[in-house]
Amino acid sequence: MNNPQLNKHGELQHLLSTEGLPSRILYDILDRASAFVDGDGSREIKKVPLLHGKSVFNIFFENSTRTRTTFEIAAKRLSADVVNLNIGSSSTSKGETLLDTVDNLCAMHADMFIVRHAQSGAAHLIAKHVAPEIHVINAGDGRHAHPTQALLDMYTIRHYKKEFHNLRVAIVGDILHSRVARSQIHALTTLGVPEVRVIAPKTLLPSHVEQLGVRVFHDMAQGLRDVDVVLMLRLQNERMQGAALPSAQEYFKYYGLTQEKLALAKADAIVMHPGPMNRGIEIDSSVADGGQSVILPQVTFGIAVRMAVMSMLAGDK
Ligand code: CP
Repeated sequence: MNNPQLNKHGELQHLLSTEGLPSRILYDILDRASAFVDGDGSREIKKVPLLHGKSVFNIFFENSTRTRTTFEIAAKRLSADVVNLNIGSSSTSKGETLLDTVDNLCAMHADMFIVRHAQSGAAHLIAKHVAPEIHVINAGDGRHAHPTQALLDMYTIRHYKKEFHNLRVAIVGDILHSRVARSQIHALTTLGVPEVRVIAPKTLLPSHVEQLGVRVFHDMAQGLRDVDVVLMLRLQNERMQGAALPSAQEYFKYYGLTQEKLALAKADAIVMHPGPMNRGIEIDSSVADGGQSVILPQVTFGIAVRMAVMSMLAGDK
């Protein structure tokens, strides 16, 4: 099937989803990201000229702390000119359509758009609309996809666990409304993780989720047993219609990650969360700030991973 993310040479043209991306592209991004961090992996290398003369437009129609800021840092480290469109004070509030806004930014010579939008498919729509030399990166669309989050999660897993082929990974929480979970599942299965588990109450699971190649658990004690990686998710209250849960306290009792529940995983299991975290609802502070948590390194790795994606789209070999 034709993949709208790839050009006729099979190279990445846009990054819209991890679904359907071949493993060679996922590994290429992870390897490139490694080249952008220094020896101990704690900092990215200094500025490089790979996007010199290019204009990157951050257009975020939904709030963001991590994604927007790390894209901006990454673009600046690649020597791009970065424009952060302030949607709140833009002409969107006067009724301008998404594609009219994009056309006007193209008239200002945009080379790359980083798009976050509440509507699933918004980044695809822009990618289909723009001229072939312009690239689009999906920074999160509705409940559909958040590919750079999944890629930085894969980078983090490989950093701590070295290989994918021997891992048992559990994704815990609000799978139903989570674009992160969907992108993680596609990336993990493509990279060869043999066992991907999802742990959630029935009300927070999409129907037929097992068709994505995951094992389904409703009980943390069973689902966390002997896993190598625990990927926690935020409760996406803004996307819930009606009461999917009895209460936050009840949710924490059964699905919140505590030291006691984490003890069921392997002793060297790592704990991840894409942020923003709801402490005391999805995760206990003693776990979030504990020795097995790699939540803040995830954020740091996001800079190198986003540098890798943007440099690949810009045609760096
Ligand atoms: N993980 C994530 O997308 O965080 P932000 O909403 O802060 O960008």
